[in-house]
Amino acid sequence: MAFPLNLIILSSLLPLLSATFTPQDNYLLNCGSNTNTSFFSTRSFLSDSSSSFLSTDRSISLSNPNPPPNSPSLYNTARIFLTKSPSYKLHLTSNTTHFLRLHFSPFKAPNFNLKTAKFSVLVNAFPLLNTFSTNSVVVKEFILKIDSPVLEITFLPSNFAFVNAIEVFSAPKDYIIDQGTKRVVPDSTQIFSNLSSQVLETVHRINVGGLKLTPFNDSLWRTWLVDDDYLLLKGAAKRAWTTHTPNYQSGGASREIAPDNVYMTAREMNRDNQELQARFNISWEFPVGGGRRVLHLVRLHFCDIVSSSLNQLYFNVFINDLLAYRDVDLSALNFHVLASPFYVDFVAESDGEGRVRISVGPSDLSNPARVNAILNGVEIMRVVSSVSSKKGFGKKNVVWIVAGSVLGSLVFLALLFLCGLWFCRGKKSKTKRSESTGWTPLRRFRNSSISRTTEGTVSSNGYQTLRISFAEIQSGTNNFDKSLVIGVGGFGMVFKGSLKDNTKVAVKRGVPGSRQGLPEFLSEITILSKIRHRHLVSLVGYCEEQSEMILVYEYMDKGPLKSHLYGSNNPPLTWKQRLEVCIGAARGLHYLHTGSSQGIIHRDIKSTNILLDNNYVAKVADFGLSRSGPCLDETHVSTGVKGSFGYLDPEYFRRQQLTDKSDVYSFGVVLFEVLCARPAVDPLLVREQVNLAEWAIKWQKKGMLHQIVDKNIADQIKPCSLKKFAETAEKCCADYGVDRPTIGDVLWNLEHVLQLQESGPLDDNTDAAAHVDATGSGTRERQGPSSDSNTEMDNGDETSGILNSSQVFSQLMTNAGR
Ligand SMILES: *[C@@H]1O[C@H](CO)[C@@H](O)[C@H](O)[C@H]1NC(C)=O
Ligand SMILES: *[C@@H]1O[C@H](CO)[C@@H](O)[C@H](O)[C@H]1NC(C)=O
Ligand SMILES: *[C@@H]1O[C@H](CO)[C@@H](O)[C@H](O)[C@H]1NC(C)=O
Ligand SMILES: *[C@@H]1O[C@H](CO)[C@@H](O)[C@H](O)[C@H]1NC(C)=O
Ligand SMILES: *[C@@H]1O[C@H](CO)[C@@H](O)[C@H](O)[C@H]1NC(C)=O
Repeated sequence: MAFPLNLIILSSLLPLLSATFTPQDNYLLNCGSNTNTSFFSTRSFLSDSSSSFLSTDRSISLSNPNPPPNSPSLYNTARIFLTKSPSYKLHLTSNTTHFLRLHFSPFKAPNFNLKTAKFSVLVNAFPLLNTFSTNSVVVKEFILKIDSPVLEITFLPSNFAFVNAIEVFSAPKDYIIDQGTKRVVPDSTQIFSNLSSQVLETVHRINVGGLKLTPFNDSLWRTWLVDDDYLLLKGAAKRAWTTHTPNYQSGGASREIAPDNVYMTAREMNRDNQELQARFNISWEFPVGGGRRVLHLVRLHFCDIVSSSLNQLYFNVFINDLLAYRDVDLSALNFHVLASPFYVDFVAESDGEGRVRISVGPSDLSNPARVNAILNGVEIMRVVSSVSSKKGFGKKNVVWIVAGSVLGSLVFLALLFLCGLWFCRGKKSKTKRSESTGWTPLRRFRNSSISRTTEGTVSSNGYQTLRISFAEIQSGTNNFDKSLVIGVGGFGMVFKGSLKDNTKVAVKRGVPGSRQGLPEFLSEITILSKIRHRHLVSLVGYCEEQSEMILVYEYMDKGPLKSHLYGSNNPPLTWKQRLEVCIGAARGLHYLHTGSSQGIIHRDIKSTNILLDNNYVAKVADFGLSRSGPCLDETHVSTGVKGSFGYLDPEYFRRQQLTDKSDVYSFGVVLFEVLCARPAVDPLLVREQVNLAEWAIKWQKKGMLHQIVDKNIADQIKPCSLKKFAETAEKCCADYGVDRPTIGDVLWNLEHVLQLQESGPLDDNTDAAAHVDATGSGTRERQGPSSDSNTEMDNGDETSGILNSSQVFSQLMTNAGR
């Protein structure tokens, strides 16, 4: 097939790749020759004759008496082996993954017609080629981990053996990685672990939609062929290309994974084709030989060169008609950078006829006007060590193969069993998930250890989390029905939903491209999974299937505190209820600040992030902006201001440093909000009233705060209780963090306010609070357990306003984390 003219022009503009990768081990042998030669690149293949690599003297150097014109000299000499003996010994300095390429060019010489040669090849006693013969030029490429200092290649002739050239070089780090490879099987998700220990044989390496790439164009000297011969319905696809160098992102693919040219060309859906429906797949079918249902590593390369902006492209990937990856969203996978290379590995079986079929097609998430799917590159590698070869060659090897395959199938069965167990757990959610089986397309997160359960069993770590399937969430939210939306935040939309067991939940679905994004998502899971507290909204589960980022929280029936203060039809809360809510929220926040070893700053305390359950118990929500305490200073400057207008610590602007006292400031604003029942910022008011904290403090300083108290509660509040409350709120909003109380102090003061309200004098004459330091650090006697509904936290034995974290923890444990 002729390339379109513009593609030809384009190819001459493409930058010539300089091979920047330097392998640690690098052996290039020109077999059977006395001279060094370069081949397809500037790399020099050294003569094997004089070298110390050859470990047998029973071999023959052969050269082609009639070399065809233009054939590389590398292919016109060969080394012939007549008997079995270790043939080449190469000393390795790196025990990682290596490439091994064996070049065979079967020419005809007087005594040897290389086309008739039949032999096997072993590497460190592992059989790579089995009674092999060829009548055309082939390069056999293997990718394997060698963990011995010597690599020994043995040719095992049936009649005689030959080889023209050998390449052995170390692969870039992490070229084949162990975790996170999805095993494509019907109706489930399984993980293929331990991939790097497998011997892989390259079967196909395809530059989809582009030109043939030779070792010249590839930093690992690979050859990439065109896809035309494998494309099933040619009219379904058209070429896409770009002249821009791909935007490589760390965490995505690198130049060593595939060269620029692979990512700069692709096939996309040919939507101009009138004969096709609006939605269709593009499919390629690759014969892979090697028998039926053989495991293959399928590495797919993607780079969104077809979209004009982010979040336009969503598609599904199928391997042999099985869903391999649903709703691929390259924008989200590539950290929101367009045209950045990404690859994903699958382990899949070939079909009954020894083929691997790959399809890409539109996802349900596609915008109907922008239905599309792409593919930039394909590599298919046979997983050799899992193949039980039926042909033997020598008794010893038969034993080896049998042992190997028995062991292999045991390992495989065990894997299947583990995967099965894992999958059942996903369904029935009875037990803890082991961390190694988690599949996430984002490599850098694969170490995140998250345990989970559905039924709320507390794991040995003292926390519980849960992975929930996308399908369950989808059905529980009526496929994200817009009428179930209960909120919209920086992270995405929040839906009301239910799980299979009918628990009501709030489902927070991250939109790709949202302000927060993946790091926050994972920070939120990590933080929330460690935290269980009566006054913190619990994470019920999460879903990071494919490109989704979904958090599932306990559902809070009464919604945000704000909607019970103003701007809604809810009946106003009583003063006592408000105090209980403030105390609850302070407890939650106090637990965040002191209850974990590091201390967590919430960063976005406001009345919409304090939620009420059915019994008006307050819980602090939204840890998406949370950051662990002390070490946050440097990182914070670069992440920019987060938090909400009107609640933001003014000192934070001056010093660009967020501390737990920033939360105290925001909490002080909430206290004023609770008292005055008006927004923290109301731009419609006259200038001096816009900012609640400023305005309230002005009144407080005048001693006239009662003038602006919410009319609904003004006559319920005892003056002593108001006084204490106002002092506390004012201290929280001090200009400087050092002048603000800790949240522990605030908690004590609020409890005291409640006591004053319950049992204090009706008028303002006796200062019942006189012996309590306003910052709460002085000692005081408890006047019996407080009457609020949260007594489980009130052990009544603390002598200081500051609970230490072990106390909080022990209290937490006795409450089974709730
Ligand atoms: C081939 O190259 C090696 C290393 O550069 C050198 O030591 C050797 O002499 C060369 N052999 C020939 C025949 O040029
Ligand atoms: C591989 O090499 C590393 C560092 O060179 C060494 O620490 C490790 O023990 C080696 N592993 C094996 C299996 O030889
Ligand atoms: C991985 O597989 C290799 C060979 O199949 C085996 O020797 C090794 O112990 C395995 N490692 C793990 C962690 O399963
Ligand atoms: C690959 O390298 C060859 C040799 O330098 C060059 O002629 C060809 O244009 C390159 N192909 C591409 C697609 O860059
Ligand atoms: C794409 O192929 C898969 C697997 O064969 C199939 O299930 C799916 O329905 C196809 N999609 C379209 C839009 O034809």
